[in-house]
Amino acid sequence: MTVEPGKGIRTPDADQIQVHDARAVGGDDDFDRSLRPAKLTDFVNQVQVTEQLGVFIEAARRRGEALDHVLLAGPPGLGKTSLAHIIAAELDAPLVQTAGPALERKADIAAFLTALEPGSVFFIDEIHRLGRAVEETLYPAMEDRSLPVVLGQGAGARTVTLDLPQFTLIGATTRTGLLTTPLRDRFGVCHRLEHYAPEHLRRIVMRSAGILETEVTEDGAGAIASRARGTPRVANRLLRRVRDYAQVRGTGEVDAGVAAEALELLEVDDYGLDRHDRRLLLTIAEKFGGGPVGLSTLAVAIGEEQDSVEDVFEPYLLQQGLVKRTPRGRVLTERGFEHLGLPAPEGAASLF
Ligand SMILES: Nc1ncnc2c1ncn2[C@@H]1O[C@H](COP(=O)(O)OP(=O)(O)OP(=O)(O)O)[C@@H](O)[C@H]1O
Ligand SMILES: [Mg+2]
Repeated sequence: MTVEPGKGIRTPDADQIQVHDARAVGGDDDFDRSLRPAKLTDFVNQVQVTEQLGVFIEAARRRGEALDHVLLAGPPGLGKTSLAHIIAAELDAPLVQTAGPALERKADIAAFLTALEPGSVFFIDEIHRLGRAVEETLYPAMEDRSLPVVLGQGAGARTVTLDLPQFTLIGATTRTGLLTTPLRDRFGVCHRLEHYAPEHLRRIVMRSAGILETEVTEDGAGAIASRARGTPRVANRLLRRVRDYAQVRGTGEVDAGVAAEALELLEVDDYGLDRHDRRLLLTIAEKFGGGPVGLSTLAVAIGEEQDSVEDVFEPYLLQQGLVKRTPRGRVLTERGFEHLGLPAPEGAASLF
């Protein structure tokens, strides 16, 4: 593909995109961008996703049509935004990007839709946060490429329907559960990204190290990968911190020993949990006797937003079987107690 990075991309204003990763720290966004894979073949793992997309993209290209609308779901940092950019690049199409919270009124979305060049990829991040009116405007736009517009007011008002150019809508969401069925049904292609296996994360770390011109041994990359919570963004972030450590305290090369020392300094444990995760587990254990505790109470107790608890902290803790969701609230499992080195109270939720 010949699209240069940034070509045809209308960069959204900073305030149009809401960063919902509680751990996002200044500077890391640029870092994310520089390490973002540019082609489907650079996109490590998630083979079913890349293979299927590859076929659909090729078919759309051959027919000279826009790709069907694509919904990408999954926890933060697994590559949704990267995939949206890759799809546009592979289609050789301009990318226009915005985010759910930035589209408050019908007019906001109409402005985007009417300005699209034919064949464009229109990327809406956090699509689960669209307002109702905006969402309803999207239905005919997605289905029939039409945009009804009301002209005038009162008795003299009339509706005209504007034809829109061909376009592909890509929606990204961390919360499929919050999408309405009519919206979900209008996507022809839906993919859910899953947490990555350590082996795949190791490949991502090796690739990123190459881009950053940092020497990393296989074992060093493995040590970082195994503590990256199944998440490429975390793997890249740990790599950056470990690289700093290697430069200051070592020779600059990241091997297993240096990685282990650096990760210890960063308070990242064997499971890849950091201070924030352990605080969440400890709070359930100590303040709420292992649970159940409601999400809102838990969020207040650890001083985080509910959304961050649900989107950022919990998916991995749930996946690891350290925490369980029950109808009455969050519960620390036996394994969770074990991880904290605390005795599980009688009757604590077992893993299975
Ligand atoms: N499959 C992959 N191969 C290589 N690198 C990846 C892959 N997936 C993600 N990354 C890396 O992880 C970083 C974060 O990915 P991205 O921003 O696409 O995640 P996201 O799913 O959009 O997260 P969020 O929900 O927070 O917006 C990227 O900068 C990229 O370097
Ligand atoms: Mg994203």
